[in-house]
Amino acid sequence: MGSNLSQKLLLLLKYDLKIASETDLDRLLVLLTEAARQVLEADRCTVFLVDRRTGQLWSKLAQGMETKTILLRKGQGLAGQAFLTCKTINVRDVYADSRFSRHVDVQTGYHTKTALMMPMWDSKNQNVLGVFEVLNKRRGWFTQEDERLLTILSNHASVAVENSQLYDDLKQAQQETIFRLALMAEHRDQHDTAAHLKRVSVYTCLVAETMGMEPEEVEMIRLASTLHDIGKVATPDAILLKSEKLTSTELGAIEYRLAWWSEKLKLVDAPAERLKEISRFAEEIRQANRPSSIEMPEPLMAQIRHIGSQRFMDRDGKVKPLLTVDEVKKLTIMRGNLTESEWEEICKHTIYGAKILAQADSQLMRMAERIALTHHEKYDGSGYPKGLKGSHIPMEGRIVGLVDVFDALSSRRVYKQRWSFEDVIAHLKRESGKHFDPKIVKVFLKAFPGIRQAMKDLSG
Ligand code: C2E
Ligand code: SIN
Ligand code: SIN
Ligand code: FE
Repeated sequence: MGSNLSQKLLLLLKYDLKIASETDLDRLLVLLTEAARQVLEADRCTVFLVDRRTGQLWSKLAQGMETKTILLRKGQGLAGQAFLTCKTINVRDVYADSRFSRHVDVQTGYHTKTALMMPMWDSKNQNVLGVFEVLNKRRGWFTQEDERLLTILSNHASVAVENSQLYDDLKQAQQETIFRLALMAEHRDQHDTAAHLKRVSVYTCLVAETMGMEPEEVEMIRLASTLHDIGKVATPDAILLKSEKLTSTELGAIEYRLAWWSEKLKLVDAPAERLKEISRFAEEIRQANRPSSIEMPEPLMAQIRHIGSQRFMDRDGKVKPLLTVDEVKKLTIMRGNLTESEWEEICKHTIYGAKILAQADSQLMRMAERIALTHHEKYDGSGYPKGLKGSHIPMEGRIVGLVDVFDALSSRRVYKQRWSFEDVIAHLKRESGKHFDPKIVKVFLKAFPGIRQAMKDLSG
């Protein structure tokens, strides 16, 4: 038995080294399970951990390719009892033990005979972190030696479990912080900001995967992409939320002017045709005042210029144009509703974003900075803020740039209607090599079935 024990201790030591360096909780659980099974010569082992929020025991069960989380109710079965009483339970015939809950066997089709349940204490020996459930000793039953070996494993495991839980916690806190930060920046200009951010992040992830990026990089771009518009925190509401071309004061002044002029014309018995024309002007101006989602129709543009060339006489008898040069200019904005100076301000959201994220130490934040700065650059060099061209635009910026446009076009915005899928895809293809990197357009189209599915899942 002496040499047998030393072999087991050696095996334990081998596992120990792996366990100490494992920071991923799921992989750590797998290691602990294997170690206990081999060292104790058992058929099965499950390591349950305590969920610190709910106090419930949980574990992951491998089922072919997938893993399933299983939960134990408080005090349920032998493992639950070991947890509740903080005592080791060693049973030679579980069916003769009233604490054993048979329905698990019934459910899984497994036949439990012998069982060793041991609470895993934290490194300060104050709280129970979880429970080892070791089942069916290959020969005989679990001995005192087995209990001692499992105690050693359990003591060594606790530090690793604590570390990986801390790491998990930090990772989760990091993800939540990033997401909340991004939400804060964008909550004003979209009614479904959280959904928009999730979509951009999921589509980006799918494109990156399809491109064959490394899993760590995919994970990084998934998080970093949500911060692409963080610089919008510094964009004034009046611009970001602007939904028409003229302010209500500006439009009111024009409507007042038209009303005044048609009253005046009635007094001088102007032909009814002329009066109808003036009221049509008012309607056309209201139409032109709405942001143009695709492009402003040429006839409407011409009509606005025509109205602008009409003259009227004001209260003081001065002859003036019916629309000022400035009003004509605003009403004939081709796409959206922003004036040149407002547009300049919008463009700065890339630079503000990069400033907010600048000089971070983490790779994740540095990637987020690159994305914030370059997601509006265009492949042919006609984008902003720097007019970078082709491969001078960082890959992450090119990916998020395309995904962002895809999502913007397939959603409604204050300044635009939703486009149909066919139109959006046609636009991406048409802009391949102009706005977008042709390689990324290709990858996007390849990933599109998955993206479409994700889109359905996220809207459901
Ligand atoms: P966003 O709404 O998230 O749009 C992101 C990008 O999608 C746009 O970047 C543009 O490349 C594309 N996009 C969105 N709508 C259209 C469209 O109707 N036609 C075409 N061809 N492309 C479209 P862009 O243009 O650099 O705009 C950056 C951000 O500036 C927008 O983010 C939005 O927040 C704001 N913005 C742009 N135009 C307007 C506007 O007319 N009015 C207002 N209030 N905001 C605007
Ligand atoms: C206006 O110009 O908006 C008012 C019309 C007027 O001065 O009579
Ligand atoms: C465009 O991509 O510029 C036009 C979009 C459309 O066909 O609706
Ligand atoms: Fe942007």
